[in-house]
Amino acid sequence: MKIEDYLASLPQNIVSGEEVQLSDKSFREIFSFVDLGGNDVFYHLGCGDGKGVKIAIDEFHVKKGIGIDNNSQKINQAKKFSGDFFCDDIKNSDFSDATVILFWFTDEKILKNMMKKFEELKPGTRIITIWGPLPNCLPEKVNFPYIINVAPFKKARSLQEQLLAVFGVKCVDFVTAWEFAERYTKAIGNPDVKNDRFLTIIQTLVIWINAKNLGVACREEIPESIKTYINIMKMHFDIDFEHLLKE
Ligand SMILES: C[S@@+](CC[C@H](N)C(=O)[O-])C[C@H]1O[C@@H](n2cnc3c(N)ncnc32)[C@H](O)[C@@H]1O
Repeated sequence: MKIEDYLASLPQNIVSGEEVQLSDKSFREIFSFVDLGGNDVFYHLGCGDGKGVKIAIDEFHVKKGIGIDNNSQKINQAKKFSGDFFCDDIKNSDFSDATVILFWFTDEKILKNMMKKFEELKPGTRIITIWGPLPNCLPEKVNFPYIINVAPFKKARSLQEQLLAVFGVKCVDFVTAWEFAERYTKAIGNPDVKNDRFLTIIQTLVIWINAKNLGVACREEIPESIKTYINIMKMHFDIDFEHLLKE
């Protein structure tokens, strides 16, 4: 089965990120990294159950904490915390007074739409994204998978430049792919997860193959370790990656 078919067989509300809630540990790591503090007006776009806003207020003492989500059940749950919570589509909401925004979206339509609003933010506003920077932008600071983008945004000349800036390397080899895959699983995953090695292998293969297809892998030939993991996935799990490799 192709990796795409395997992913399609998993619960889509999880794969799309719709039902994924960051852990308290991730929130604390993110807020320390962005140096959130008493002068900040913090917005969590897609705030889910409101835990992020609660931690920003209680532990990082932000001046104002606001959560926006278009799911009314989640907003009702969030309203038990201090902070301002609004049930709204982030595409229509006003967050122009923000100094820090947490924005974890991968949906291309939303990203494209939101860029117009982000471009109008006050200079110096920090937007934290996860895994990648804002579309076509270079990150200001990276503590992978957490990324700080600062308005006005620096434009990336190419996808290659953007990817290398995120990983902080001149080219991507197996070790880089593995290290970043592991950081992502550990940062976002549940601490009790038992199959994180399996996820790390999938992420590693995806990172290395994307790098290769973009022409930023360190070597032309496929490293032995990548070949081995492609074979393990095929033989033991019937999950195929080879077709992703462009000639
Ligand atoms: C972390 S976001 C990411 C989900 C999104 N599918 C993506 O692009 O990756 C998930 C949270 O955002 C909320 N959400 C999704 N779309 C939204 C929108 N257009 N406006 C406000 N909240 C939204 C969901 O209810 C959920 O609590």
